[in-house]
Parts: sequence; structure tokens; C-alpha cells
Amino acid sequence: MSASPSPAVPVGTSAGPTAAELLDFVRRTAADTALIASLPLDPEGRTWIRLDGPGGSEAWLIGWPPGTGTGWHDHADSIGAFLTAAGTLKEHSLAARLPTDGWKTLELAEDIDRSRELTSGQGKAFGRHHVHEVLNESAVEHAVSVHAYYPPLPQIRRYSRTGAVLRLEQTERPEDWQ
Ligand SMILES: [Fe+2]
Repeated sequence: MSASPSPAVPVGTSAGPTAAELLDFVRRTAADTALIASLPLDPEGRTWIRLDGPGGSEAWLIGWPPGTGTGWHDHADSIGAFLTAAGTLKEHSLAARLPTDGWKTLELAEDIDRSRELTSGQGKAFGRHHVHEVLNESAVEHAVSVHAYYPPLPQIRRYSRTGAVLRLEQTERPEDWQ
């Protein structure tokens, strides 16, 4: 990819890739039609392939059958990016920085919900502690997306959501998904 300077998104003391660089990677990867076509698709559940992300980042190609989603979760201290390579994904996110530890339930303010539809070729980068859920709301069409995280995910916190109340349900560690 081009070496043109982009406004660096700081990642603290780490010299790892920026969120902009991760977005660049997922965009380039999604344009690799042979790679995207190599992902097995299963109508019963999500499928994935681990990819080599830039600069030691963790990257995945994920297939989403109609009606599947992640549930609410965050990525702890990792920054990341994802981009829809096929189909359409919906992202619901919170425009607030939540405390990372020391709570089981939080009542969310009324004005922090955000929703965005990401059609093929559209993606987004996100910073630390980004809380979201990603869904394929289509009744008929698979979606495929590319994801990259840096540092490699140390943990994923999973939440349930009832109205305005977010509840921490589970913390997953890498051994749970690798
Ligand atoms: Fe996520």
C-alpha cells in the first residue's frame, strides 16, 4: 500500500499499527476476491479464517449467515478496524467510553446509541474500549467481513442488553476463540 503519511492514531507507548493502518489493511484484504471466495460459508453459523495482520495485529475473515450476530462486546485495550467484503452488516455501538473494570451493570444514557449500516466496501476503525454488536440482518444473504485488532485481543467482554441496562456476562480469553 502507499507509504503516504496519514494522521497517526496514537496507540499509547506501542509502536504497533494505527487504527488507520488497520483500516487500510482490511480494505486491501477485502479487495482480494480469491481470498474472500476461499472462506467456507455455512448456513448454520459463522465461519472464520485467521489472517496475518500487519505489524503483529490479529486479523480474521468472518462469514455471517443471514440472521447471525455477535451480541454486545468490547475488545478491551485493543484498537481495530473492520470492513464488509460482501453483503451488508449492521453495527450498533455506544458513543461513550465505559469504565473497563469494576462493574457488573451500567445504565446507559439515552443519547449514546449509534447504528450504522456497512455495505460491501464500507468499514470503520475504532479505538480502545469500543462497545458494539455486529449483525447480518439480511433474511437471505450471507455477509463476509475482514477484521484486524492491535494489540492481539487479550480478552473480549460480552454483555447482555435489556433496554438501557448493559450487564457484563462473560469474559473470553484467547484460548476461547483460537
Ligand atoms: Fe467486535
